[in-house]
Amino acid sequence: MRTELTLTRPDDFHLHLRDGAMLAGIAPESARDFARAIIMPNLVLPVVTGAEAAAYRERIMAALPGADFTPLMTLYLTEASDAADIVAAHRAGIIHAVKLYPAGATTNSESGVRDMTRVRATLEAMSEADVPLCVHGEVTDAEIDIFDREAVFIERVLDPIRQAVPGLRVIMEHVTTKDAVDYVQSADAGLAATITTHHLVINRNHILAGGIRPHYYCLPVAKRELHRQALVRAAVSGDARFFLGTDSAPHADAAKESTCGCAGCFTATNTMPILAQVFENEGALDRLEPYVASFGAEFYGLPRNSGTLTLTRQEAPVGFPARIDTGAGPVTLFDPGMPVYWQVSARG
Ligand code: NCD
Ligand code: ZN
Repeated sequence: MRTELTLTRPDDFHLHLRDGAMLAGIAPESARDFARAIIMPNLVLPVVTGAEAAAYRERIMAALPGADFTPLMTLYLTEASDAADIVAAHRAGIIHAVKLYPAGATTNSESGVRDMTRVRATLEAMSEADVPLCVHGEVTDAEIDIFDREAVFIERVLDPIRQAVPGLRVIMEHVTTKDAVDYVQSADAGLAATITTHHLVINRNHILAGGIRPHYYCLPVAKRELHRQALVRAAVSGDARFFLGTDSAPHADAAKESTCGCAGCFTATNTMPILAQVFENEGALDRLEPYVASFGAEFYGLPRNSGTLTLTRQEAPVGFPARIDTGAGPVTLFDPGMPVYWQVSARG
């Protein structure tokens, strides 16, 4: 049995770092293991312009003195977004992608897009300048069941966008269904997907059976077991269109453990050990490195990292802290609910 694994230092292609005291408290949790991360722009006041992205990048760097970590910034697409500013920020290397949130789909998405025709010209400009679009793939219509919102989004929104703007490179973020896996696999080119750590581990029973567990509630919400299995198959398949985006999304415990709890699982701290366990359980440890350290970088046109991360298999299951204390309150860490024998043992 394999007991040690040295990987190229990984990247996280979907991360929420927040701002202020929460940023200061949780950023080191990502910077410890990850070399780079695509930083989601859904702050309370969304990051819409190149100047705002540059300023947010500075705040992130200030929260990580001395850390070897590169935030890869994104912009939040609104119906009023300025295509010229997006293209200029991309050319200048300030941003790496633009994020589409359907209005009302998730945390801080009120400024998102309501009418896709209003962003069509911006998407065309992005396609021409090869600025990738990251997509939160859920419709928001009240009459669509929450467990169907991803599949309906593909049919009603994503496929039409891709037909209308065929050159646009798209990353379907945090896919949660077999429908999304099949859709990505059926595309010729220009389409990829991130998969989170938690969606490889939990299905909807973990949230709802035997009591409601708010720390497993995230968006898109975890689906049936057959969907989780499709995600695991995609992640371990070696198909370069699927790569890690943790969607680590911290909320203070008081905001999660509430009559209207926030969506988001916080997985920055223990993602790498959990992923090693998931890949080992599937007999696919050799596929972990490309999943975390090369497929995403290739899609984004980035060089591979030069550092390494070593994981070691322990005799007994490893424990993780239950929560991380931040100046914005305690944040409960994702509990994989299964034995994890892997631990990060060296960072080079
Ligand atoms: C994210 C957040 O809290 O910002 N929440 C989540 O459940 N994933 C937003 C998002 O990515 O949908
Ligand atoms: Zn997210």
